[in-house]
Amino acid sequence: MTDTLGTWGGWEPAIRDDPFGLFAEARARCPVQRVRLADGHPAWVVLGYDAGRQALADPRISKDMLAALEDNGDVVAEGLPGPEFSRHMLNVDPPDHTRLRRLVSRAFVPSRVAALEQAVRDIADALLDELDDAGPGATVDLVEGYAYPLPFRVIGELLGIPPADRLDLHAWFQVLLTGWAGEPPAEAVEASGKIVAYLRELVDTKRRNPAEDLVSVLVAAGDDALTTQELLSTLFQLVVAGPDTTASLIGNGVVALLDHPDQMQALLADPGQLPAAVDELIRFTAPVPHATFRVTAEPVTVDGVVIPAHEQVLVCLGSANRDPGRFPAPDVLDIGRNDGPNLGFGHGAHYCLGAPLARLEARVAFETLLGRHPGLRLAGDRDTLAWAHGDGLVLRGLVSLPIVLGPARHRAE
Ligand code: HEM
Repeated sequence: MTDTLGTWGGWEPAIRDDPFGLFAEARARCPVQRVRLADGHPAWVVLGYDAGRQALADPRISKDMLAALEDNGDVVAEGLPGPEFSRHMLNVDPPDHTRLRRLVSRAFVPSRVAALEQAVRDIADALLDELDDAGPGATVDLVEGYAYPLPFRVIGELLGIPPADRLDLHAWFQVLLTGWAGEPPAEAVEASGKIVAYLRELVDTKRRNPAEDLVSVLVAAGDDALTTQELLSTLFQLVVAGPDTTASLIGNGVVALLDHPDQMQALLADPGQLPAAVDELIRFTAPVPHATFRVTAEPVTVDGVVIPAHEQVLVCLGSANRDPGRFPAPDVLDIGRNDGPNLGFGHGAHYCLGAPLARLEARVAFETLLGRHPGLRLAGDRDTLAWAHGDGLVLRGLVSLPIVLGPARHRAE
């Protein structure tokens, strides 16, 4: 049975918060299935690890959603901020993809990312200093005060966004990315417009006064290298792709460790396990539960199922990463797991360009937080935590995370 047309996404809060039971049931019943999305469009969802990996790397499954929209507007849903800002690497195929990715990738090579470690550490310490001002018994929101501003400040540094502008930008992104499904509400449209106008102005400023940042580098590459539309789309995508995903990993990861005190203790006893723990927390908590939409350019067979041409395809990373055929005891959080890579950062040509940066940010965020506050605990009832991000497809992250940090350990200088 492949043509189930059950609904996918837009789930009720209980399922959106903990979708793994639903993923497992769907994967066991029908690992490649035709579904209907919350907005009414049909799509195919791929749930197994091997099939997901194959689909992500298959050049016949295109990322050029604007072309697909022209071909078959009935199939593909259009999101904010609209086509004008959608011409970035994640929405195009080679050769455009290769060109755009190469230009940006200079900023993310391992040596450049490693050089950011001290800056990330300073940001983490400064944010914790602010939270500590509330006192050891106070309840603080770890998402608003730590998990989100940390990667947001880092991308601000990387792009050369002046610190004074970051608060506004942060506020607009909060409106744009929190908690709606289907048609965007008026405030999201307004926030999107403000972001677009801000990025245009930023590009103009860097044209006039170039500096060492990534925006200046891209501007200097010239119009032959990338069009203004591609440049603006790229900046938009970087500010969207980086902070929310990483914030979700940090917030989800803290909750997962509090849910599993044995794993928390193992990590506190041996922080050297952090790099592996970060990847296991990505696998287990699915901050990005699905890869972004793709569309078949021709009929493609995935896991024995023929997906016709011009159909939307959604690879469910959260399901693939809990496929028992790939990960023994997939529903167990095990920071010592040694099973090889998972699909949390995607696979193939569109494999997350920011993965080295995200791994660094998450490692430093956990190290700094747990090093200073090893006794942190949830302030409220576990059941009241809400993972709310639109239709539950692209992001799984907490809106807020009330935490009592407890006494601070002295900082090792
Ligand atoms: C825990 C944090 C993160 C997760 C889980 C994550 C996940 C992903 C995934 C799954 C994809 C592939 C999507 C697809 O194929 O449809 C992707 C692509 C991408 N990510 Fe990330 N990401 C994270 C952080 C970041 C950061 C910090 C940046 C940069 C600042 C970033 C930049 C990108 C870019 C530019 C792409 C597009 C690559 C391409 O199309 O070639 N990501 N990410």
